[in-house]
Amino acid sequence: MRLVKSEDEIEKIKRACRLTADTIKEVGKHIRVGVSTKELDEVAYRYIKAHGGKPACLGYNGFPASICASINDEIVHGIPKDYRKLKDGDIITIDLVVKLDGFCGDSARTFLVGNVDPAVRKLVEVTEQSFFEGIKDIKSGSYVGDISSAVQTYVEKHGYSVVRELEGHGIGHSMHEPPEVPNFGHAGGGEKLVSGMTICVEPMVNMGRRDVVFLDDGWTCVTKDGLPASHYENTILIRDDGVEILT
Ligand code: MF3
Ligand code: CO
Repeated sequence: MRLVKSEDEIEKIKRACRLTADTIKEVGKHIRVGVSTKELDEVAYRYIKAHGGKPACLGYNGFPASICASINDEIVHGIPKDYRKLKDGDIITIDLVVKLDGFCGDSARTFLVGNVDPAVRKLVEVTEQSFFEGIKDIKSGSYVGDISSAVQTYVEKHGYSVVRELEGHGIGHSMHEPPEVPNFGHAGGGEKLVSGMTICVEPMVNMGRRDVVFLDDGWTCVTKDGLPASHYENTILIRDDGVEILT
């Protein structure tokens, strides 16, 4: 697989990413106490379709929805349900992939529902900031391990832990392409990043211990200790002098 994209492919990936970002924003407008995760899924489905895209999660390895909706101790890959309604003080991660004109965009955000405990709000802020710490010094010639190490260092400095069972990834025609982009590791390790590569950087951060459990539904990944987790993801483009955030 050719991991360096042509300028024409990059243009298409950028358009897919723009729709991805707009869809998450649209879903975000509907997040409030009492809304079900199924309703949020329908918002995303309709918005993506109305803009000529395809919800790439829907049917992916049998995943039954257009978004992943993960509440509180659910880290990622929560399945939307009509009986799962948001409550005051919840946090919810919306993770979605849009396919447009043959190319994918992938992004995730953790939203606050009503009055969230300041300690949990801090977790969400640190998770988001860990993404920016991860990409801060990245440019063509950097290594994946430079991202991994910067994310891990920042997260652990705040007393939280990074999930190790799941990781970021390259993206293009498919939502998951090489290289793998873990949220832990050593600077200088892993694949070399070069201009024109498109990758997803997605720290998954647990407030407590890093251990996870996969539920019997085959998808939902939760924290073993039941404490909350947060997730933040963008698709980025590697350039000679830095990175561009596409979502
Ligand atoms: N951003 C998620 C990932 O990279 C998207 C998963 S969609 C699903 O794993 F179809 F796998 F649910
Ligand atoms: Co992803």
